[in-house]
Amino acid sequence: MQPARLVVLVSGSGTNLQALIDACADPAYGARVVAVGADRDGIEGLARAERAGIPTFSRSVTDFETREGWDESLATVVERFEPDVVVSAGFMKLLSARFLDRFLTLNTHPALCPAFPGMHGPRDALAYGVKVTGATLFVVDAGVDTGPIVAQVPVEVHEGDDVESLHERIKTAERAMLVDAVGRIAREGITVEGRRVRIGAAAR
Ligand code: GAR
Repeated sequence: MQPARLVVLVSGSGTNLQALIDACADPAYGARVVAVGADRDGIEGLARAERAGIPTFSRSVTDFETREGWDESLATVVERFEPDVVVSAGFMKLLSARFLDRFLTLNTHPALCPAFPGMHGPRDALAYGVKVTGATLFVVDAGVDTGPIVAQVPVEVHEGDDVESLHERIKTAERAMLVDAVGRIAREGITVEGRRVRIGAAAR
């Protein structure tokens, strides 16, 4: 069986991307990062891909007259790499319904959905005073962090945490969750029925 083809989208440091690249080095993992895309240039996420010899592309919203034009251009370049799965790993842009109809797209979010959606999961969890937060991998739908849940991992909030220390602890757990779930999806397939996600119930 050929390894599943992953296109990973990033906007920043790309530590989740790096965890996937590292996992893919083992042929038994069952997946391969075939391209890495971004919505901006000059970020560590793209540099990580380049160091690993993975093709990269970037599409900045500001280079397009319309948001639709940006989204269509992104979809066109993603399509070229024939992904089985698109993984949004710290990609800070919403994707259109048209994009999501074309590609099975997963997103990792640093909170336990449906709590604390949006750009500031760790900050919002800390401000709310929860004792446990975590990370969620979900199938992206038209909402903001509302899609069917693939995997979740809990993370304790410690006394004295600030946003950075909490986010770093979340990211450690998040990377392990992402690598585990994406690998199982690659090897065993995924079915999504309404809000129910099952891994291993169907061939890819
Ligand atoms: C991750 O924690 C990811 O969940 C978060 O950005 C971080 C990216 O880290 N994404 C969001 O908050 C999206 N709502 P990384 O660039 O080191 O992988």
